[in-house]
Amino acid sequence: MSRLVVVGVQWGDEGKGKMTDYLAQNSDVVVRYQGGNNAGHTITFNGQKYALQSIPSGIFNPKIKNVMANGMVVNPKAALAELEKLNTVGIRDYQLFVSDRAAVIMPYHIALDGAYESAKGKKMIGTTKKGIGPAYADKYNRIGIRMGDLLDKEYFAERLNDALAVKNLELKMFGLPEMEFEPLFEEYLAYGRAFKKYICDTANLLNNEVQKNSKILFEGAQGVMLCIEHGTYPFVTSSSPSAISVPLGTGIPPKYIDHALGICKAYNTRVGAGPFPTELEGDLAHYIRERGHEYGTVTGRPRRVGYLDMVALRHACRISGIDSLAIMLFDVLSCVKELKICTHYELDGEKIDCIPSTLSAYQRCKPMYIDMPTWNEEITEVKKYADLPENAKLYLQKIEELVGVKISHVSVGPDRTQTIEI
Ligand code: IMP
Repeated sequence: MSRLVVVGVQWGDEGKGKMTDYLAQNSDVVVRYQGGNNAGHTITFNGQKYALQSIPSGIFNPKIKNVMANGMVVNPKAALAELEKLNTVGIRDYQLFVSDRAAVIMPYHIALDGAYESAKGKKMIGTTKKGIGPAYADKYNRIGIRMGDLLDKEYFAERLNDALAVKNLELKMFGLPEMEFEPLFEEYLAYGRAFKKYICDTANLLNNEVQKNSKILFEGAQGVMLCIEHGTYPFVTSSSPSAISVPLGTGIPPKYIDHALGICKAYNTRVGAGPFPTELEGDLAHYIRERGHEYGTVTGRPRRVGYLDMVALRHACRISGIDSLAIMLFDVLSCVKELKICTHYELDGEKIDCIPSTLSAYQRCKPMYIDMPTWNEEITEVKKYADLPENAKLYLQKIEELVGVKISHVSVGPDRTQTIEI
């Protein structure tokens, strides 16, 4: 498989960072194709923990080309801070390429992200407040600024002037201070200078790599259920983390995508607001949250926790054409007192197997469960599938049966070495 997409098939935070890092060791190129620094990819190796937000996970290996592709929204200040942090832990030798077409997150996007959320009051999305939605909105409204613009002084001045004419009206409407041209212009020109050596036409670069038959890993951020098109709208992010957005977000034609690996926790979590039919409360939720360290990498918020939801998982796998699954954080489920899997929803007295398009219908969905046997053995040291407890194997087999997709990897701990290949 030369071109592999790694995509979260739940509501994000499935452990994509670990799997991408694990698979990146055999890759020539690692590509982020959507999202921005709303993502938090945690990678652990040699006992060290690293948290990446917008930089691709191949950055630790000097042989790998890391691409931030056109589908991303880039906060240059935050990305530089990320690189600086890597620098302080000795990660200095890397290859990074940033698309000249990637949208720039500007300070007014961050201010407006907060303002839109406040205006929604109790109905707020619970965004990461990183300016992601407003930056994508401006891109589609054609008043966005792109990374390549920062390299051309006159052109950037024109783009920023045009954008500020609209954005200052919006800021004023929310009672926020308007932004002046000059300091913004100087600050972002400086980011342009800092990124000059990385900025290029990454679609060209990637298509050349395809011609060379290089091994390319596409690293999704968030998860399919947060997809702007196919997720639980409006409680979604503003891009599509799904595998079907790879061609658009990178400039590589769809025919070149070989395999989609779905990253799936052994249970479900969600941060931010929005429907979550299998959500748990009480002791079991607490047990899973603490064992799984279920707190947001970016915002530190405690994640909502629930049983595995097969309706959502089947939907996500269908949309993304998932070829195989990696089951993550499987060790967290050892010693739970009770274990269930949601197979279908009940909506207004009817059994359904789909995600309703409206929030009002989704909120009425009740999970239909099957009970699963539990296991009391710790499995963090298990290296082979055959050595897993019988009931743990039953749980994995049930997932395969209910999704109709084979499991190729099982993760039993945060380290690279705690990965069982099937
Ligand atoms: P935004 O992407 O900051 O606009 O946030 C929109 C929704 O997506 C919120 O519910 C966030 O909590 C969620 N979200 C964004 N990025 C991530 C992520 O990396 N993991 C999990 N949830 C995320």
